[in-house]
Amino acid sequence: MEELWYKNGLVYSVDVEVFKDSNNDGVGDFDGLTQQLDYLKTIGVETIWLAPFQPSPNEDDGYDISDFYGIDKRLGTSQDFDECIRQANQKGIRIMMDLVTNHTSDQHPWFQQARRSKDSPYRSWYVWAKERPKKWDSGMVFPGVQKDIWTYDKQAGEYYYHRFYEAQPDLNMQNPAVQREMRKIIRYWLDKGIAGFRVDAVPFLIEVANADFDPDKPEHQFDMITQLHQYSQWHKRDAILLGEANVDPKEQEPYFGNEGQGMQTMFNFFVNQHLFYALATGETASLKEALNATKNIPPTAQWANFLRNHDEIDLGRLSDTERSKVYARFGPDTTMQLYDRGIRRRLAPMLGDPRLINLAYSVLFSLPGMPVIRYGEEIGMGDDLSLKERLSVRTPMQWSAEPNAGFSTSAKPVRPIISQGPYSYKTVNVAAQRADSSSLLNRISHFARLRKQCPEIGWANGKILDTNSDHVVAIQYDWQGRSLVTVYNFSSEPQQCQVKSSIKTGLTLVNLFDQTNNTIGGSGAVSIKLAGYGSAWYRLKN
Ligand code: NOJ
Repeated sequence: MEELWYKNGLVYSVDVEVFKDSNNDGVGDFDGLTQQLDYLKTIGVETIWLAPFQPSPNEDDGYDISDFYGIDKRLGTSQDFDECIRQANQKGIRIMMDLVTNHTSDQHPWFQQARRSKDSPYRSWYVWAKERPKKWDSGMVFPGVQKDIWTYDKQAGEYYYHRFYEAQPDLNMQNPAVQREMRKIIRYWLDKGIAGFRVDAVPFLIEVANADFDPDKPEHQFDMITQLHQYSQWHKRDAILLGEANVDPKEQEPYFGNEGQGMQTMFNFFVNQHLFYALATGETASLKEALNATKNIPPTAQWANFLRNHDEIDLGRLSDTERSKVYARFGPDTTMQLYDRGIRRRLAPMLGDPRLINLAYSVLFSLPGMPVIRYGEEIGMGDDLSLKERLSVRTPMQWSAEPNAGFSTSAKPVRPIISQGPYSYKTVNVAAQRADSSSLLNRISHFARLRKQCPEIGWANGKILDTNSDHVVAIQYDWQGRSLVTVYNFSSEPQQCQVKSSIKTGLTLVNLFDQTNNTIGGSGAVSIKLAGYGSAWYRLKN
């Protein structure tokens, strides 16, 4: 069973451009990442997920690729990339990458040729309409910033379709030649040593788009996911797909596929939003419902849980009232909000209270699913709201109190470094937190180690327990004769609760945080006292 490596391992998301600059040109690079692999190893990172690193005009921070087989020159050479993979593998770290094939950059040679002539073989690689489609301004992914999804191209004399920014024309996935190219891209990077793909924008990748389609109710081609799965696994047995699909739980099944023949893992956006609601309000009913709603997935599949990623926190699946409560607590200023649905802040400034941050990580590391953290979150980096849209959470990594946070010695780093206020690199940095045993960095590596000692979290089908409290969530994991009970208090006040487990009366639960014991009382109930925003993981003593 051990080969399903995505059941329990910690994933760390890196944007090479802003991680570590090794040649002092102001831009992070692969050699810089290679130098920091030992740092990642000490946190307990098992897999790195690389944000797009291919050549790109950077209209969407690299998610607009102009050569799928290349490496952005600023980030290093192909040899630097190979060396990074080699050294990572030697240290037991896998490297995954973003697979962004829903669209290309409008500067990609394919699009350049496609727009130039109707006779170009590349014309049918994109999606065109002679007249402006009726629903040209519906279904934008970046509302408020993006005006339309069909844009007239003078050179082509037609409208082209783009779910995302204008500079990102959608590829026509119905075209077998495009599908073949996508397989070629997958094969190319798997051969280079990539362990799997974070598949970008899955619902849009598999939608059937054409001049008459309804962008609000598109038809999906789910067999494409099966094909991707089969293709990547034929090529590399343990390669995985990690799907980015913010879908309603009612729609999740075909993404995971029949008998696990779809995405091996998917980000649990649904739980993420309800988790933020619970963190903001202390009310846990909807989080419990979300956990139950996302419970049934194939035995070989796994959720990927996260607190923050490189985008805004998308709260689009909460009700308006719920969303406004999360806004009120975590993003009250309109400059903190984005796309009418989310918050563009990092976790630490948003949550503020260290007890709440600690609770959030205790939850992240023990929820059903594999934990994913984003670079800089492990030290509680801040955000820069003066930067455009989602760039607010994409500032350079803060390594030390040296100039430019030790990210680069160049006079002009690629993006401003946070140097003012409580989240300035002078205070918040890796070096300082390494030296402080009570730092967030050390707590997070502690959680990561503890998680490895609790494989049942990844393998069992976690059961939500009755806790007798609106503020407390408890989950029981049973696997191969081992049991674990995790308990979290989302209230700032201490809570005394009765957790009803299915564990035999009289047995002992050991608190893995402080080694104190609890005994299971009559009818499996255990009486637990938690501090404000407190949590505990209990292992059944054999
Ligand atoms: C989802 C990515 O997370 C986001 O950053 C990007 O803008 C879009 N896909 C388009 O590729």
